[in-house]
Amino acid sequence: YLIPHGTINGVAIPFFTTPEFRLDLRQNFKLRPESDIFIVTYPKSGTTWMQNILREMLFAEEKGEWADLPLTDRVPWLDHIRDMSVGDLERLPNPRVFKCHNHSPQEMDELFFKGDKTPRIIYVLRDPRDVSVSLFYNLQKAGKTISDWMTKASFTDFFKTYFRDEKVVFYGPWEKHVENWLSARHEYNILVVRYEDLIADSSKEIARIATFIGWDCSAERVREIADKTSFASVTKEKLFKVENGVSDSFLRKGVVGDWENHFVDVEDEKLMREIAEELFKKH
Ligand code: PPS
Repeated sequence: YLIPHGTINGVAIPFFTTPEFRLDLRQNFKLRPESDIFIVTYPKSGTTWMQNILREMLFAEEKGEWADLPLTDRVPWLDHIRDMSVGDLERLPNPRVFKCHNHSPQEMDELFFKGDKTPRIIYVLRDPRDVSVSLFYNLQKAGKTISDWMTKASFTDFFKTYFRDEKVVFYGPWEKHVENWLSARHEYNILVVRYEDLIADSSKEIARIATFIGWDCSAERVREIADKTSFASVTKEKLFKVENGVSDSFLRKGVVGDWENHFVDVEDEKLMREIAEELFKKH
């Protein structure tokens, strides 16, 4: 039913992340612990935004081959690297920046870190009510090719039957993902950035990110990066190049609180709000 998926260690993963690809990562991915940067998120939490920020910070001066790459290749997605192979990742110059949605640091130990010193990780976090709305539209758009059910589902159906079903929701339930990452924030080298804080004061968050990655940057340059990567600029300039036809759907509204227009069932909203409050209180 719903959306096809595979399962690894009891966690649902999207159908396009194959066991062969994960085996390839496990065997052939070579970490550069001093310079690699991993953007880790639960899907729809601001991954693309963070990819654009880091690209602008670190790669803005690039010319030619690297500058022409679409975002998804310049900051590769390590659940699904499209036409590249794990070997191609070796060609990327330092520092390399990757994005992934892996559900726990332990899973990343197994695939990428392999007992080495852990690299810098930026974990982006968003209100799960807005995450669910964003995911609803993303999957609905993709639904035409992957699931008839999805094209017809209401938001309420989607929330109850997909988002809250831990056997099928990609990367597991939101709260497990967030718990896994927040509880490891001191053991691993993790900077936590909240989508809502990025919206409220992008420059402040970008300055924190710069400090975390050891990048010396003037206040003026920080402001420039904030402007250039804002939702308005990105949608106007198509900074995020549309390549595979679905990328466009990642840029929808880019606001905080669109959940208010979607949660018809007040019990669903209360459930998600209380789960998030509890988790944030704990960490
Ligand atoms: S994915 O598929 O997991 O990589 O998606 P992700 O990029 O994490 O999340 C997509 C949502 O982030 C919003 N977005 C932005 N908001 C504000 N500013 C900028 N620059 C920006 N870029 C992406 C995007 O619009 C999606 O949220 P919704 O609520 O659907 O608009």
